[in-house]
Amino acid sequence: MQPASLIAIKRDGLELSDQQIDSFISGVTSGAIPDYQVTAMLMAIFLRGMSPRETAALTAAMLHSGTRLQWPPNGQPVVDKHSTGGLGDKTSLIIAPLLAECGVLVPMLSGRGLGPTGGTLDKLESIPGFRTDLSITELQQQVLQLGCVITGTTAELAPADRRLYALRDVTATVPSIPLITGSIMSKKLAESPHALVLDVKYGSGAFMKTAADAAQLAASLVRTGHSMNVATTALLTDMNQPLGGMCGNALEVLEAVMVMQNHGPPDVRRLSLLLAAQVLVDCKVENTHEAALSRCEGLLQSGAVCERFLRMVEAQHGDPRLPLKIAPATELVATRSGFLSRIRTEQLGYAVIALGGGRQQTKDTIDHSVGLEMLVRIGEQIEAGQPLVRIYSRQPESIHQQILDALELSDTAPSEPLPLIHSRMT
Ligand code: URA
Repeated sequence: MQPASLIAIKRDGLELSDQQIDSFISGVTSGAIPDYQVTAMLMAIFLRGMSPRETAALTAAMLHSGTRLQWPPNGQPVVDKHSTGGLGDKTSLIIAPLLAECGVLVPMLSGRGLGPTGGTLDKLESIPGFRTDLSITELQQQVLQLGCVITGTTAELAPADRRLYALRDVTATVPSIPLITGSIMSKKLAESPHALVLDVKYGSGAFMKTAADAAQLAASLVRTGHSMNVATTALLTDMNQPLGGMCGNALEVLEAVMVMQNHGPPDVRRLSLLLAAQVLVDCKVENTHEAALSRCEGLLQSGAVCERFLRMVEAQHGDPRLPLKIAPATELVATRSGFLSRIRTEQLGYAVIALGGGRQQTKDTIDHSVGLEMLVRIGEQIEAGQPLVRIYSRQPESIHQQILDALELSDTAPSEPLPLIHSRMT
């Protein structure tokens, strides 16, 4: 069938068959379908949506557009975690070595910063020498030797997503649940995992602003994972304030290392433990959440996770002494007393970009040394003159007001504390 006829089916709100989706994605991958027809289809999907069956077929077709990682058939579980992205989210740095310590294989293929949320690869590249461009052979070898890798996806894995994502980015078709599902799950399923845990975030710093929208995305991701026989669970987690204190590449590596040394902010620690424990239960390495959680806590306390992280850094050519550059700090103080009632987290993410810690355009280079350290959390009582945020920057003070404006103080305490975990979908 001609691409125009396939586009017409979706334009009219009808369902595409699995074969029709396969044929369209083949044309996307080979380049036989030109950009104008691909983007017309993306907009039709954006406006008309896709049924669960179509979404699963889209994901399968995108997955089969490339190769998949291969693992020895010895039954050793292969697992991964994915986050839909949030400010200060550095849990991947902790979870990959933590799971490797539990004896499972973790081929974590990560991404770069997208809009106001940071990217794991950018964080790791603040470590001098760290390589995030391993080939498929290199990454598979490292996983088999060390248990974990965190590197960028390669051109051979789900290549259809590269073309589709680049076109979505410039045609306002990114926020579509079937397209996000196909994009995320085709790349994760290309790792050939037995189990996946997904951290689907909602709130002022997340892609999905409400828990209800995040639940719809989570349901689509989980259903699609199951359709490919992969044990998949999503945790819906709060992103109405940054996770932990540090936001910015090198700062976040330092905070993750603190957690691995059994210090660090309780929310980063708790979320890392819960996500890791979930996937250990899902891949049947542990029978109960309690057992999985207590094993993970013990490993964090022992220092073994930190040691394995540093071995991973070394294996990827990074300097395990972590000689990270951090820009000079200035503190911003409260101009009045009150309760911290709301944080415009996305605005803080854009402030990190403005400091140089993220990209305005894909070709921009990043200053890994800059960022913010949140000194207060939502619900806290604040006195005038109290430090709220530490800014690590070499730039003039023009950004300070934007950061202060992102923190809302009120006269009364918020009625309820923000829950870190909203719900679990499996
Ligand atoms: N992350 C992805 O990899 N793809 C999307 O579509 C959105 C977030």
